[in-house]
Amino acid sequence: MRVEVADAIPEADVLAIPVGPNGIPAGADVPGAARIAEEEAVAAKAGRTAVLYAEEPSKRFVLVGLGPGDELDADAVRTAAASVAGATERVGGTLAWMLDDSLPEEEQARAVVDGLILGTYDPGRWKTSSDEDHPFERLVLVSGDESIAETATRAATIADGANRARDLSNMGANLLTPEKLAARASEIAGEHEHLTAEALGPDEFTELGMGSFAGVAQGSHNPARMIVMRYEPPSANGDVHLGLVGKAITFDTGGISIKPSLYMEDMKGDMSGGGAVVESMGVLAELGLPLKTLAVVAASENAVGGGSFRPGDILTAMNGKTIEITNTDAEGRLVLADALHYARTLGATHLVDFATLTGAMNRAFGDLYAGVMGNDDEWRDQIVAAGEASGDHAWPWPMHRRYRALIDSAFADMKNSSVRGQAQPTYAASFLQEFVGEGPWAHVDVAGTAFFTWGRPDYLTQKGGTGYGVRLIAELATKLSA
Ligand code: BES
Ligand code: MN
Ligand code: ZN
Repeated sequence: MRVEVADAIPEADVLAIPVGPNGIPAGADVPGAARIAEEEAVAAKAGRTAVLYAEEPSKRFVLVGLGPGDELDADAVRTAAASVAGATERVGGTLAWMLDDSLPEEEQARAVVDGLILGTYDPGRWKTSSDEDHPFERLVLVSGDESIAETATRAATIADGANRARDLSNMGANLLTPEKLAARASEIAGEHEHLTAEALGPDEFTELGMGSFAGVAQGSHNPARMIVMRYEPPSANGDVHLGLVGKAITFDTGGISIKPSLYMEDMKGDMSGGGAVVESMGVLAELGLPLKTLAVVAASENAVGGGSFRPGDILTAMNGKTIEITNTDAEGRLVLADALHYARTLGATHLVDFATLTGAMNRAFGDLYAGVMGNDDEWRDQIVAAGEASGDHAWPWPMHRRYRALIDSAFADMKNSSVRGQAQPTYAASFLQEFVGEGPWAHVDVAGTAFFTWGRPDYLTQKGGTGYGVRLIAELATKLSA
């Protein structure tokens, strides 16, 4: 979708007119618009639409509600944009969108782009009758401020990246093996200057001592890959070497501690954190951000088989610490243990990991917020702020050293799960903290936000992958490189 700015209403296939708490914007003198907006109470609900037909200057006008004034935020605008696209699905071509006085224009512009691109994503790729995604080919934002064109174009680059991450999440584990994810990383690297990708196979990561990762990996016929991507722009600003770490379990059966079957198909999405990290590296390079960035993505299946690791096994991680396995379904922290340590040894100064780590996070925060934990409050809050600014909602979640006692093991340095159903996200994070070394680290538990069992009644109505993390990472990297 190309994005432009015009200071007067252009010719278009569709003209979208937001109806905010102050009514329709000045300058939208469409006959009958104000009356219809009133009669159909368009303003009452974000995303409520009324379509008017005309010839000039646009073939259709869509009045779209932004909802009540006290609920008006970027998500309301995203929802409105997705809804306009839905109401004009078969039209295509050029969409003109009048910005109004509801929110700062830059924020509106980004939200309109997000809503159009993310809201028209089609997860039905594998239907024989699958439609293409249908965002408009061209978006013209009607505004007096030329500079928002660049903001909006960047937003489109980021949202396209998020949709590619959704594709990865939605692929069945027969299609997206660890090797395929590594191949995707190489493909992205091939498209961008200053971006490289490599992937360590079982012999290599075992040789490096990644016994924790290897333990999870050993049960599958699909060989695991530790994927490493490096973005090293010549003009990098400052001393920060950002380290992005991702969990990419291409399918999580639970292993010998097997999962119940209801909704187990959703565990193809257990690679969503890693998928977002891989795609976001392409986005950072595409945006040309001057920030040295490293990605380490642990890609493996957690399979049941004769070769699987078992409860009672003791694994030795790359940093030398030993782990008693009490539940093979707590595999995410095991693969992250080696990935986090490896990212630190490769020089990352600031770490942040994305992982569908605990069912408890999904139960606690649902599909709206990811929980953010870490060893440095300031860094954690930077992650939260980047999430909030980008639409990937994030909220701080507590940690305390006293939680560590619940993963004490009688046999090893720690165990990988606690049978007590308490504070699971924090125990998981306490476990990860054993492997992050010196320096700031934050952990984003995206179990509820990265892959939807049911759609969300806003601009992400689709089931499956959401691309969570791509927008947050792009925002964070933009802030860090400014
Ligand atoms: N991938 C799951 C967590 C998950 C569950 C993500 C539901 C998204 C939706 C993770 O590997 C897992 O199985 N976690 C266990 C840990 C437990 C055994 C300590 C969990 O949360 O139940
Ligand atoms: Mn699991
Ligand atoms: Zn998992």
